[in-house]
Amino acid sequence: MEKIIKKHQIAVYPGTFDPVTYGHIDIINRAANIFEGVIVAVANNPDKNPVFTIEKRVGFLKQIIKDSNRNNIKIDFFKGLLVDYLEMKKANIIIRGLRVFTDFDYEFAYSSMNKKLSNEIETVFLMTNEKYSFISSSLIKEVAKLGGSVKGYVPEIVAKALIQKLQD
Ligand code: COA
Repeated sequence: MEKIIKKHQIAVYPGTFDPVTYGHIDIINRAANIFEGVIVAVANNPDKNPVFTIEKRVGFLKQIIKDSNRNNIKIDFFKGLLVDYLEMKKANIIIRGLRVFTDFDYEFAYSSMNKKLSNEIETVFLMTNEKYSFISSSLIKEVAKLGGSVKGYVPEIVAKALIQKLQD
């Protein structure tokens, strides 16, 4: 039987990360424990009207990963189809975090479509740490905008930037 996790396998963890939360960071670190390398790929998807520019979103992730001293995690960004990005990076694993049951429908559609677009690709799901299973980037932005504390859900640099950006 073919080995499922091959040596030197690179996995890509895509997302909008507007902004990155501890839920995402937990998935990134756990993926980095499994795979030889992990590329966190920030999607340049203006349709989602992100609060932070692509440069800022990439910058937060780079700073956070630098502080964690892990050398098998890289931060990048992409535009267009995710499968094309994976092909360019010679990667064939997509990492996704599953939070609650309602994520399933959406993830099922995405992974099935990605598989149709490129049969080489497998999506690997990690269960989100239960501490973060109810948060999303939108929820964090809403709380920060209304003056609530987002401590414990996003790193300090992100919390500060959110307050600056949203409470003006
Ligand atoms: N902890 C906390 N929050 C999490 C989380 C976790 N482990 N996992 C996901 N979330 C949150 C995200 O912050 C996001 O919140 P938001 O909607 O409030 O911004 C929400 O859950 C949805 O996350 P996700 O499913 O990762 O969506 P996304 O917008 O971040 O990323 C892409 C979607 C970029 C992966 C997808 O649109 C894509 O691949 N685009 C490229 C174009 C393409 O190839 N399209 C065809 C695909 S078949």
